[in-house]
Amino acid sequence: MNTAQFIPSTLPFSIEKATYTWQTPSNIALIKYWGKSDPQIPKNASISFTLNNCHTITSINFVKRVTLSAVERSQITFELFFEGEKKEAFKPKISQFFERIKEYCPYVFEYHMIINSENSFPHSSGIASSASGLSAIAMCLLNLEKELNPDLSEEFINQKASFLGRLGSGSASRSIEGPLVVWGKHPKIEGSSDLFGVKFPYKVHSVFENYQDTILLVDKGEKQVSSTVGHNLMYKHPYAEQRFLQANENLAKLSEIVQNGDIDAFINIVESEALTLHAMMLTSNPYFILMKPNTLEIINEIWKFRGETGSKICFTLDAGANVHVLYPKNEKEKVNHFIEETLSNYCQKNQYIFDNIGLGAKKL
Ligand code: PMV
Repeated sequence: MNTAQFIPSTLPFSIEKATYTWQTPSNIALIKYWGKSDPQIPKNASISFTLNNCHTITSINFVKRVTLSAVERSQITFELFFEGEKKEAFKPKISQFFERIKEYCPYVFEYHMIINSENSFPHSSGIASSASGLSAIAMCLLNLEKELNPDLSEEFINQKASFLGRLGSGSASRSIEGPLVVWGKHPKIEGSSDLFGVKFPYKVHSVFENYQDTILLVDKGEKQVSSTVGHNLMYKHPYAEQRFLQANENLAKLSEIVQNGDIDAFINIVESEALTLHAMMLTSNPYFILMKPNTLEIINEIWKFRGETGSKICFTLDAGANVHVLYPKNEKEKVNHFIEETLSNYCQKNQYIFDNIGLGAKKL
């Protein structure tokens, strides 16, 4: 794997100070990534819808450090503000991210960075903010790198931003572009890589255009088991190898489905993937459950509604209790009514977020 391509050889320009602001989205996997090897290499390929309304806005103010001693030169310095307040608690995760990427962005040593970040969704909503948060930092870094070396192409910038995001949180690799992104080498997806996410390279059927995703906030508390712990439990998991094969087979099928518009087959694979992800958690050792009783209530209501009305509504889950309700644009009115009348009753404080499929990172 060619990681050397991401180490800058020359940075012809010099910049004293600059501020860049980027908005990057969250994403929801249709084929799930669960299990990895070092350094953040997925055990199977995954594909996600990029979201639109759930995003992070981050600006980084880079100020060149002057007269550095040898000790200072070996330290990365930054301040972190989240929603206007200094957040020491978030610093270790960001420090770890900078440690992982410093080889690829040696210029981080030369600047003091003031990072300001905010999410469009409530912080403790159970919506993972690592994908949008880390991809936003990655885009700001690439913005600086582009100014230091204007020869960089847009394709390279997207690849490298995804590559950096991946080193912080695997799913962040899928938050740079949209509407569908594949991460992980797969024989049926041209250009796919374990190192970064790529835009789904084939034409998507019109039924999947502008797909809707309403996120039902079932449990807004801190997860009992983090993704990092969950991924690690796949190392000794008795069904792991079979699961990785199945995910890659499902991705081959889903690739055909999103091209030919077979929405029933889409529903079947997407719901099966969600339940399989949670089945891996139930059968890990130690075992754990991230779904809540209302997660199951919602799933049953969705199945009932689909059976009674012929709607093409379906659900998926990430590593938590919240439910992502997926449906085609032409059912928006009908499904929104169902969500308001029925599904919202299973949400904490009746809260949910209407979202739809988006196109990825935006410079502000
Ligand atoms: O990116 P991580 O390490 O938080 O893992 C994400 C795992 C899932 O959200 C459950 C699945 C996925 O592919 O996004």
